[in-house]
Amino acid sequence: MQNNNSSSDLSLNLNVRGMPLSATLYINELSNSLKQQGKKVYKFGLGQSPFPVPKVVVDELRSNAFQKDYLEVKGLKPLREAVAEYHSRRNNIECSADNVLIGPGSKELMFLLQFVYYGELVIPTPSWVSYAPQANIIGRQIAWIKTKEENKWRLLPEELHNICEKDHYKPRIVILNYPSNPTGLTYSCDELQELADVARRHRVILLADEIYGGLTFNGNHCSIARFYPEGTIISGGLSKWCGAGGWRLGTFTFPEPLSGLLSGMAAVASETFTSTSAPIQYAAIKAFSEGIEIERYLWNARKILKALGTQIHSILYNDGIESPEPDGAFYLFINFKNFSEKLKAKNIITGFDLTTRLLEDTGVALLPGSAFGRSEGEYTARLSYVDFDGARAMAAAETIRPEDPLPDGFTERYCAHQMEGVRAIVDWVKSL
Ligand SMILES: Cc1ncc(COP(=O)(O)O)c(C=O)c1O
Repeated sequence: MQNNNSSSDLSLNLNVRGMPLSATLYINELSNSLKQQGKKVYKFGLGQSPFPVPKVVVDELRSNAFQKDYLEVKGLKPLREAVAEYHSRRNNIECSADNVLIGPGSKELMFLLQFVYYGELVIPTPSWVSYAPQANIIGRQIAWIKTKEENKWRLLPEELHNICEKDHYKPRIVILNYPSNPTGLTYSCDELQELADVARRHRVILLADEIYGGLTFNGNHCSIARFYPEGTIISGGLSKWCGAGGWRLGTFTFPEPLSGLLSGMAAVASETFTSTSAPIQYAAIKAFSEGIEIERYLWNARKILKALGTQIHSILYNDGIESPEPDGAFYLFINFKNFSEKLKAKNIITGFDLTTRLLEDTGVALLPGSAFGRSEGEYTARLSYVDFDGARAMAAAETIRPEDPLPDGFTERYCAHQMEGVRAIVDWVKSL
């Protein structure tokens, strides 16, 4: 992997010296150079919503373009109220504007949290690419929990217990991300209740990264904050369910006993980014207040993603590329372990070798499992099914009655490039 600063003789912070470019960037660069050579590329390495921002939210941004003042560091009060009401309504928890912090993306808020809190970060893998690098930059300890495929990559209560029991008094933040990037899997309410019981027993802080909550296929996202309200911070934002990653708006919702963390983060924010973009905050009020247009948008987004995710899952599964069936978001965490012998015979030894060779041979870009905290030798990879024209697919879905399923052939018609890339993966493993 490329290293952008190792040869420098500058006096770099030791936590940053030698840090590689993320795997995502590397695969993107390779994809771009193949594209420039005239090759067809299937961008299944991206983690961005394919859908446009809902029109009502764009209209709101347009009419607030004139907003130019610096806003309160914690975020615009009516927006914080809307976020608090959103969580009270959806997750049945008590919170008010005072419990909410707005930032330029939830990623930035996670960084501030790790900076402000002095403790260990517990990360179940496979996990999103940025949690661990952030901890490394700040110099925090990481405790990894390797979840198992046979448990559908979910963290089990006993696994959480075992790590906490080693030193019951150690301050800890445990990250739970569901629906998950990279697996597309979520937890049932019962499973969350059991995890919450363990978290309470060991008094850990839970960071519930629910950025994909609105994209749970059955529309019934359940938050662990319901079962452990006093110790759970809910992380969310506009990037995924609202398709507005580039707008950069994230939200953290804190329980009252953790308000000291909110104040600490706000103090650091006041000395760094000051406040989140004003027009975006005004527009976000509309998004978090929901309403019929947003409901319809989410209904159709989930319908399309569910149809596509389950279809791709079954095509790959039938040909031996396994993964659990997805529950939400737009990812599959696929495993090529059934082809281990053949891969080794071709000198494909690591997951990174696998994704690089697949990209060179077929133009399909995936991210190796090692980018998500799995071991180098594991033949796992993340497939994002977002390489289609989301605006076109959404417009087509809007013409279908909400209670009706998408017609046969919908994905072949509106996600043709995506489906072609999936078949290229199948053909590749057959040709090994
Ligand atoms: C699991 C997860 N958490 C957090 C983020 C960060 O989102 P943002 O900073 O855009 O709010 C992402 C973005 O890809 C993600 O996949």
